Amino acid sequence: MDLFEYQAHELFARHGVPVPAAHLADDPAAARTAARRLGGAAVVKAQVKAGGRGKAGGVRPAATPDEAQAHAAAVLALTIKGHPVRRVLLAQPVEIEAEFYVSYLLDRAERTFLAIASAEGGMDIEEVAATRPDALARIPVDAEEGVTPQKARQIAEAAGLPAEAEPVLVALWRVFVAEDALLVEVNPLVRTAGGRVLALDGKITLDDNAAVLHPEHAAYAEQDGAPGGGLEAAARAKGLNYVKLDGRVGVIGNGAGLVMSTLDVVARCGADPANFLDIGGGASARVMADGLGVVLGDPDVRAVLVNVFGGITACDAVAEGIVQALAEVELTKPLVVRLDGNNAAAGRAVLAAAAHPLVTQADTMDEAARLAADLANAAPEPAADPPAGTTAGSRPVPAGRQGGR
Ligand SMILES: Nc1ncnc2c1ncn2[C@@H]1O[C@H](COP(=O)(O)OP(=O)(O)OP(=O)(O)O)[C@@H](O)[C@H]1O
Ligand SMILES: [Mg+2]
Repeated sequence: MDLFEYQAHELFARHGVPVPAAHLADDPAAARTAARRLGGAAVVKAQVKAGGRGKAGGVRPAATPDEAQAHAAAVLALTIKGHPVRRVLLAQPVEIEAEFYVSYLLDRAERTFLAIASAEGGMDIEEVAATRPDALARIPVDAEEGVTPQKARQIAEAAGLPAEAEPVLVALWRVFVAEDALLVEVNPLVRTAGGRVLALDGKITLDDNAAVLHPEHAAYAEQDGAPGGGLEAAARAKGLNYVKLDGRVGVIGNGAGLVMSTLDVVARCGADPANFLDIGGGASARVMADGLGVVLGDPDVRAVLVNVFGGITACDAVAEGIVQALAEVELTKPLVVRLDGNNAAAGRAVLAAAAHPLVTQADTMDEAARLAADLANAAPEPAADPPAGTTAGSRPVPAGRQGGR
């Protein structure tokens, strides 16, 4: 689960990472009050689980509560990379002397934890990572040892961060370990004119596999009013086996093996899957309707592929579920369906009779995946995306992860 900046802020504060004072607001009047509480001036920041907020006009400094209110109204009207802004964070303005980048993450390829740090943090970090990878120090961190003061010194020296950043590096590691995070990223970590070092922005990805150890994290999923980030929680609440991925093709299938191979075939067709969703061997119409609701609720999805091999639940029941779902959820994205196995012909007839203009049937998995991939690739980007070439993905981690969140 990815956290909002304000939630990351909260965890930072809990573990001793210095952050500016800040208040959350969900309407312009509350933003005005928040700015007043901060002393008048405030930076108005869109709370969305997408990167490149500043470049999309989602981070705006205000000198007075009036201005904060006006900025909040403008920012709350934005949709950034398909994510409507529902809340803004009002942060105490800080006089920045230098901006740095730091992240801790799990490097699966190397089977180690990694610290990435740079003295050239800020909104252009993706460009720095792409054009001058040497400007980023990449230091493996031993899981047992962690980031000790000595390790922090090594990271800071390798990246060219000031000595004042070292205790913050240690505190950020505490966040990473204590909260069972897969990613903790601060961009920018700043040094103020007064010589303080603090985290002005924060991204945290929690390990959902550790959720049982952190019942308190459930509140973060509940605070997620947006359809984008609360998808996994919504799916869990419905008993669905759903994992959010980075791509644009929503995938629904029955049986983990079938879904896994569907993901592979979609990738081979030149598109990335947006999720894993196994509705199970005995999936009812209800489960199919729930599953479609979750996948269609993902703003990143451009097309959906339903790949079902009828077994215990015959294809006509699955088709009924799709038709039922279409009655409940407004279909705004193309849906490609491949039904095979038990009662496939009857299932196809049910869908054909429904004759929904956005639903297409395909006979084979390859054909269905090709079609869904082409539809997703041809779909326009959401209008509010920043111009091409700014930020490739929504989670700007310069570790070869620029494909998005
Ligand atoms: N409290 C603050 N005081 C002064 N300047 C700030 C403050 N918060 C943010 N800024 C400035 O705004 C820039 C962008 O802010 P931030 O990093 O939070 O958003 P972003 O990087 O555009 O979003 P994302 O990290 O989602 O891509 C920062 O690099 C910093 O220069
Ligand atoms: Mg940032």
